[in-house]
Amino acid sequence: MTDRLKSRARPTRRQSFGTKYSELMVEGYSRRTILKGLMAGTALAGTASLGLTSRVAAQTNSPSSLTFPELNRITDTADHWPEGYSRQILLKWGDKLFADAPDFDLATLNGDAAAKQFGYNNDFTAFLPLPQGSQSNDHGLLVVNHEYASPYLMFPGMSYEDYKDKMTDDQVRAVAATTGMSVVEVKREGAGWVTVLDSQYNRRVHMGTEMRISGPAAGDDRLKTSIDPTGTVVFGSISNCSGGMTPWGTILSGEEGGMDVFGGDYTTLPDQELVERQGWDEDENDGYALTRVDARLKFENEPNEWMKFDWVVEIDPFDPEAKPVKRTALGRFTHEGAQVAVAPDGRVVLYMGDDDDFEYLYKFVTAKPWNPTDRAANKDLLDEGTLYTARFDADGKMVWMPLIQGEGPLTPENGFHTQADVVLRTRMAADLLGATPMDGPEGFVPHPRTGRVYIAMTENEDRLPTGEGDEFEQVNAANPRSPNPDGHILELTPPGAPDAPDHAATDYTWDAFILCGDPKDPAADAMCHPETSDNGWFTDPDNLSVDPEGRLWVTTDGPPDAGFNDALYVADTDGAGKALPKLFYSPPVGSEVCSPCFTPDGKTMFLSIQHPGELRLTDGEDAESLIDAGTNWPDFVEGIGPRPSLVVITKDDGGVIGS
Ligand code: FEO
Ligand code: CA
Ligand code: CA
Repeated sequence: MTDRLKSRARPTRRQSFGTKYSELMVEGYSRRTILKGLMAGTALAGTASLGLTSRVAAQTNSPSSLTFPELNRITDTADHWPEGYSRQILLKWGDKLFADAPDFDLATLNGDAAAKQFGYNNDFTAFLPLPQGSQSNDHGLLVVNHEYASPYLMFPGMSYEDYKDKMTDDQVRAVAATTGMSVVEVKREGAGWVTVLDSQYNRRVHMGTEMRISGPAAGDDRLKTSIDPTGTVVFGSISNCSGGMTPWGTILSGEEGGMDVFGGDYTTLPDQELVERQGWDEDENDGYALTRVDARLKFENEPNEWMKFDWVVEIDPFDPEAKPVKRTALGRFTHEGAQVAVAPDGRVVLYMGDDDDFEYLYKFVTAKPWNPTDRAANKDLLDEGTLYTARFDADGKMVWMPLIQGEGPLTPENGFHTQADVVLRTRMAADLLGATPMDGPEGFVPHPRTGRVYIAMTENEDRLPTGEGDEFEQVNAANPRSPNPDGHILELTPPGAPDAPDHAATDYTWDAFILCGDPKDPAADAMCHPETSDNGWFTDPDNLSVDPEGRLWVTTDGPPDAGFNDALYVADTDGAGKALPKLFYSPPVGSEVCSPCFTPDGKTMFLSIQHPGELRLTDGEDAESLIDAGTNWPDFVEGIGPRPSLVVITKDDGGVIGS
């Protein structure tokens, strides 16, 4: 979700920069090769000589392995991709996912129709080859998250101010059904890709989908409601943001804050300390007016219902009948995603960011190794294991600290009587362990070849200099800028990397990969490769993906504040081109690009284009209605607003994406 629309409090107070790189060097950065790149970049910027000629020369001899012609920055009603490449719109919001689904029709859209169509605001996207377990490059399943909806941009005749009142009950139900997830079979046909409407796999998951709750909190009294006296059942998943894929081919979906669908008076909820720590203490809720059609979502009616959201959901896309499962062992917080690695002993490791200012990093390590020969044996692997949170030290080391009831401060005296207490109050447990508060951690991806792990901090305008505010708000080694409006990417290295990275280990080392921002602006304190072009630097990194060639793809969520579009960039993670980003794709105005994913050969890229038109083209401010939207991409039909879409990018000569 775009950071601008988050319902959590986001003060905008700005502070002057406190930490300088000279100070960072004193703290131990001077050894770091990337900093040498920074210093070179600063020197170049200082001479103010990076004119067009030198940029072209730099690109001709670019150390990057990425040879595609870099885009120029552009913000307009359309999307843009490099010369020599093609872009296809594969799925738009409202497209049929089933042979008997109705055609997209705004005038008649209701819950039943939306539940058979591709959802709104597609985010995380995964490609799973078919047949299952194969390396097929032309046939597979796409599993897609639909994070949130913007009714005032979807339906004509309403605005940001009045949509909750103007929506009909049918429209409210359509909104409930258009969020969640889609599973859809796709295949290459001729020069393009098509959806298979009569597929046995196609599926929609939405607020009406029954799910199981498993793990340490399952059955806890705090999850029991009048329709679920067992505390093990929930209908629906919401705010499905990013995700991950397990080695056995299930998909993990992060619930990134569910309060948009809840309404009523949060002060009536039983655990006000948790309400506040979870960030649900906002008066602005019931964002979709769902309480009108679904009474359980009103706090006063079902004070425990909210506890059933903000988890990671596991779904088996190869079994449309399988109930999705909310895995409580993975903790409860504002889940961005859950990216997966396997330790040398076969235990499975999930890397998870808690996307809010000053929140923490987590990982979960399964108790048992996964079974590559018996898929069913992995069915409940994610219910048993250890949840960790991270502390970064200034000497370049970091520690994963276990969140285990009875260990360290997680005692009954501190309110942790059971492991259910730990997972239901994950943030509070991590507070007690002294985890490092981060600048809005989002994309988190292990590199399959090097074993290093990349984590994107989108931004944090409220980070304070040393000596101001509370200690957790002040700069720390891993979040060194105050404020941090541009974000940064860190590189974590587990022991044994690159040959046998032990992702289950507790002691890692870490380094900065990129400190985002304009490398020519000394005030930005940016750090990236000195040959980064005027188009290649970025701010607000969000999703991270590694392609089959090992390059790091970065999508952004917030650069309109810097005066240009959100976009998709890519950089090498090793060699002379390390941390040299290049601009690859620019979406229509107002969009966020999400979740680049690839066929196994790296020759097809799927991309989610979320919330197109959410900003006006004229002034970059929030669009307030369908006709005010910055674009009505991709249809460009009057009366129909922008439609979030899933696009496919291929290279015209059949080559690998990025070449
Ligand atoms: Fe859904 Fe943190 O972005
Ligand atoms: Ca974001
Ligand atoms: Ca995100």
